[in-house]
Amino acid sequence: MIFMDIKKGMMVRTLLMVLIIVVVSLNIVSFYYQIDTHVPSIFILALVSLAALYINSRLKKEIEAKKSIEFELKGLNESLEVKIEKELKAREEQDRALEQQAKMAAMGEMMDAVAHQWKQPLNAITMYETLLKSDFKDGLVDQAYIDRFLDDTTLQINHMVNTLDEFRAFFRPNQHEEIFAINDSIASVLRLVKDEFLKHHVTVKLDIPEDICLEANENEIKHLILNIINNSKDAFNERNISKRLITISAKLEFDTHLSIAFSDNAGGIPKEIIQEIFKPNVTTKAADKGTGIGLYMSMQIANKYHGELKVTNTKDGATFTLTMPIVKCNRFTAQR
Ligand SMILES: Nc1ncnc2c1ncn2[C@@H]1O[C@H](COP(=O)(O)OP(=O)(O)O)[C@@H](O)[C@H]1O
Ligand SMILES: [Mg+2]
Repeated sequence: MIFMDIKKGMMVRTLLMVLIIVVVSLNIVSFYYQIDTHVPSIFILALVSLAALYINSRLKKEIEAKKSIEFELKGLNESLEVKIEKELKAREEQDRALEQQAKMAAMGEMMDAVAHQWKQPLNAITMYETLLKSDFKDGLVDQAYIDRFLDDTTLQINHMVNTLDEFRAFFRPNQHEEIFAINDSIASVLRLVKDEFLKHHVTVKLDIPEDICLEANENEIKHLILNIINNSKDAFNERNISKRLITISAKLEFDTHLSIAFSDNAGGIPKEIIQEIFKPNVTTKAADKGTGIGLYMSMQIANKYHGELKVTNTKDGATFTLTMPIVKCNRFTAQR
């Protein structure tokens, strides 16, 4: 546009110069040869003025058009910026809502685990009490009985307190990253689901070296592990599998990464959803059983710490593989 304007300006100037030269030369010629050329030179001057006026008005119009286009563009740019900002805000809000939903889902799964862990000791304590009453009536209660009673109930209560401690450790609002041994985190998750897994006849086989450490928020990694093994447990139940086995095995890759494989024999991921499994809200479970958030959140956690989470179907189940960069263990970490 500007280039065209410059070109037009130059053309006008050249034209004017040529015409002026023609007029001046005509006048010189007429003066020299004593010819009357006043009429053509006035005529040419008038033509020049008209051409200049015409080109000037065209240029003015074009400049005005250009200005209005620029004004329109500016307006469009501004409204585009507003739109982008709005879109970004909406995205952020959506992400936050998903995160919140994921936290609630994780909390639900944990509460479930705690409730199951508590059921058995609560039943045991209730039974001891009933026995105590009837044995007292029968005159069987002596000092040794009371000591045994106290030992038994304390054992059950300790079991409940330990579960609660584990639960609190999960939800302690710590956002910081720490160095921890992965075998400790896995052991901690397994302690929490022990009774629940026992009830559903799920056996967990471990093959994890002791001195492999990660740097991350340990609670988040525990959530990831819990999500994966809970999904296996659900799949065992849904499909009524008889011999239920989860294998968790870890190995080093190139001395820089840890690769943990969680394998089950629960029949595998349905083909229709295996590509979508890490997206939010993908679930095959009833509304009160699944949210479709667990694996999405697990992937977010892995990515946050430069890790990867992958899934493949095996001949009789599914294998989730978590790959994470490792760090050197602190002096005290590996032997907590
Ligand atoms: N080990 C597994 N075996 C079979 N299907 C699985 C397994 N893990 C996950 N899935 C499938 O992936 C879906 C998504 O899992 P997830 O994101 O944890 O959400 P949710 O458990 O709430 O459904 C599950 O509904 C299930 O269909
Ligand atoms: Mg799940």
